[in-house]
Amino acid sequence: MDTVTLTDNRSGKSFDAAIKYPKGGTPAMDIADLHKEFELYSFDPSLGNTVSCESKVTHLNAKEGKLYHRGYPIEELAQEKNYLEVCYLLLTGELPDTQQYGEFDDLIRKRYFLHEKLNRLFSAFPDDSHPMSTLSSAVAALTSFYHNFIEIHGSTDFDVNEYYVMAQRIIGKIPTIAAQAYRQSVGLPSIYPDMDRYFTENFLYMLRAYPNNEPEIKDIEIKALDTIFTLHADHGQNASTTAVRVVCSTGAHPYAAISAGISALWGPKHGGANEAVINQLKAIGSVDNVEKYIRKAKDKNDPFRLMGFGHRVYKNYDPRAKILKKILEEIKTEIEIDNKLLEIAYKIEEIALSDEYFISRNLYPNVDFYSGIILTALKIPLNMFTPIFVIGRSVGWVAQWFELRSEENMKITRPRQLYMGDVNKHL
Ligand code: CMC
Repeated sequence: MDTVTLTDNRSGKSFDAAIKYPKGGTPAMDIADLHKEFELYSFDPSLGNTVSCESKVTHLNAKEGKLYHRGYPIEELAQEKNYLEVCYLLLTGELPDTQQYGEFDDLIRKRYFLHEKLNRLFSAFPDDSHPMSTLSSAVAALTSFYHNFIEIHGSTDFDVNEYYVMAQRIIGKIPTIAAQAYRQSVGLPSIYPDMDRYFTENFLYMLRAYPNNEPEIKDIEIKALDTIFTLHADHGQNASTTAVRVVCSTGAHPYAAISAGISALWGPKHGGANEAVINQLKAIGSVDNVEKYIRKAKDKNDPFRLMGFGHRVYKNYDPRAKILKKILEEIKTEIEIDNKLLEIAYKIEEIALSDEYFISRNLYPNVDFYSGIILTALKIPLNMFTPIFVIGRSVGWVAQWFELRSEENMKITRPRQLYMGDVNKHL
């Protein structure tokens, strides 16, 4: 067994920490006995060096900039499979055959609809409320509509079929909730889902339709958005997935855990970056201003950061951003693109990729850098960009929830702290 010897230089005492090897990527040393041996904890704020679980869902090769779901490269999945096939893969570990796909697609379509009482929730939100706020609230509210899973005592009482039903509800209903949240926020009449439409087409339909009016939806638009969903489907132990796992570890209801994931995703350092990128490109306004903003991004005294750049894990070009850049080139011929935004984005990338600051820190475009320009071309409202990330990621959250929930001895997540506050005070 390979080990790392850790020595406490105060006492000279040593202990060997076993090295655990993953199927790919950096190994980890097992410090489960650290406190027992040394009466010490490890200090790793933001958990950048911490492996929090074993997982079989998604693998990121940080150095090479590669992403695999259940072993399949993201490029092949994005090219050859649709989003629902990728959902099936993430949930079950296998790609569906034709019959399995047909059954899965049918089940998802049946779950598009919301309970009428849930529909009433949307009208309680003020005009102009951000759809992310409504989305996280409505998903948390699903716990009230679907009580199963509330009694969670341990893995032995866990029925795998209930997991699949839960997964279908999450995947099927979140697009409807997102579309409704948007329509209500701007006062548009409600549109019910259309079961005759495939998942992604149905979502575009719910965004665009008016009563008794058939919106135009091009195949290339469905394909582009479907690929965006696929590219967001899962990404290892990112902040929102970690939030889902932490809530799961308490034994809380799964929809409550997913709602926590939605809230965590909203921040501009995470899924909120796609909206922030477009705001930033608009603020830059012209290619002539790019140099100035690059200088701001490099200035330690300026809080400005290039949105859509950098990644905690990838130290190479985000493979998802590469695919999105290609999609942009493909759709350009059929759909009108905001060329001004695109030119600014290309210029930022060109300068940043040859600039010492970005090179030395391994800062490359991430998934959010180009997705917003595609979504703008699809006429998706800006405040729906992050809900679109939610729609894509919902399956990953469910798969990761299930993985943790299936552990024989699921433990509550409970990190420690270094207490630095006042001591020995008396009234
Ligand atoms: N612009 C300018 N400098 C940056 C940027 C950026 N976008 N990102 C990182 N840096 C610098 C940072 O200032 C630091 O410099 P120094 O070493 O001199 O202090 C260095 O690079 C390392 O940055 P960090 O903040 O320690 O890196 P992190 O791993 O904690 O943060 C990140 C990763 C994604 C939060 C960060 O790169 C960032 O804020 N990017 C912009 C927001 C963004 O695009 N988020 C979407 C991430 S991908 C989608 C998702 O999965 O959510």
